[in-house]
Amino acid sequence: MKATIVLLPGDGIGPEVVREARGVLETIAARFGHALTFAEHLIGGAAIDATGDPLPAATLAACRSADAVLLGAVGGPKWDDPKARVRPEQGLLAIRKALGLYANLRPVRVHPALAAVSPLKAERIEGVDILFIRELTGGLYFGWPRFREEVGDGRRAVDTLEYTEQEIRRVVTLAFQLARTRKKRVTSIDKANVLESSRLWREIATEVAAGFPDVTLEHQLVDSCAMRLVTAARTFDVIVTENMFGDILTDEAAVLAGSLGLLPSASLGDGTRGLYEPIHGSAPDIAGQGIANPIGTILSAAMLLRHSLHLLEEADAIERAVREVIAAGARTPDTVLDSSQKTISTSELGAAVRSALGH
Ligand code: IPM
Ligand code: MG
Repeated sequence: MKATIVLLPGDGIGPEVVREARGVLETIAARFGHALTFAEHLIGGAAIDATGDPLPAATLAACRSADAVLLGAVGGPKWDDPKARVRPEQGLLAIRKALGLYANLRPVRVHPALAAVSPLKAERIEGVDILFIRELTGGLYFGWPRFREEVGDGRRAVDTLEYTEQEIRRVVTLAFQLARTRKKRVTSIDKANVLESSRLWREIATEVAAGFPDVTLEHQLVDSCAMRLVTAARTFDVIVTENMFGDILTDEAAVLAGSLGLLPSASLGDGTRGLYEPIHGSAPDIAGQGIANPIGTILSAAMLLRHSLHLLEEADAIERAVREVIAAGARTPDTVLDSSQKTISTSELGAAVRSALGH
């Protein structure tokens, strides 16, 4: 097949990990006979430096006409002034919104060889296989009004948590559809004991569930979900939740896998075009050292093949290759317990995955 993939390396370790994922996609293209065309564009801090805009019009136009987008990470201390009007993160939020990518899929699996790297006891995390579906274009991140003002003797700031019925329904429906391909259990996370938006969320989730009699729905409050993730993560299958809760819970869940550097994500809308990115950030503290873990981005490339290009066999091949190199002991520094263990570089790990794809 022929496809165009826009690469948005972004900031910090973004370019280093995207380079490895591109190499893996090129290996797949050669092995399976596909014609993948890549086009690199600016986003985030790199785009602010070059154009003053975290999401330049040329980048957005390229993404709109591509089959899929693979992103590294945005942000860094250089652009972190809290008073700055233009921030790298605005580029990421704007592209999610502009492409209508309302569902962010974040699978969390524990590789047996990495169970010891997690601070949690191995027996608690063995066999964990959770699919998070985080609502991505609503809630506190986009609610209106948002402002700051001077009141009397101090400052006041307002953000708004709002959801419409349609916004909730479409993402919860996707959660049920995906649960059908898994263990058929959906846990919907909210704070319905306090928040009106959560009570609407719960109501809609229950309505959607009526159309999926073969899938079970349970509701859980976000605080107790946070605890269950570290005490009994194996009891989850699909978790669906609003934007901010999902942001927080998925970083917590990354601890189960051993490292934030391992986890991929797919942001999807109604069409097949998606945005794929590791869930980690730009990690400015290790940028440029060649030690970032490329696996989150490589697994994001696998999700890209599966969800946007429908190349299921190819996606499976990448996931298998990653499991193989992890089992064989290939480790960047984020996935070893102590400094006496041998580690390899970002590009060596990328090369190991490519060579595992060759057989
Ligand atoms: C994520 C990140 C982003 C988010 C930031 C960088 C805006 O934390 O993708 O989880 O909060 O969505
Ligand atoms: Mg986050």
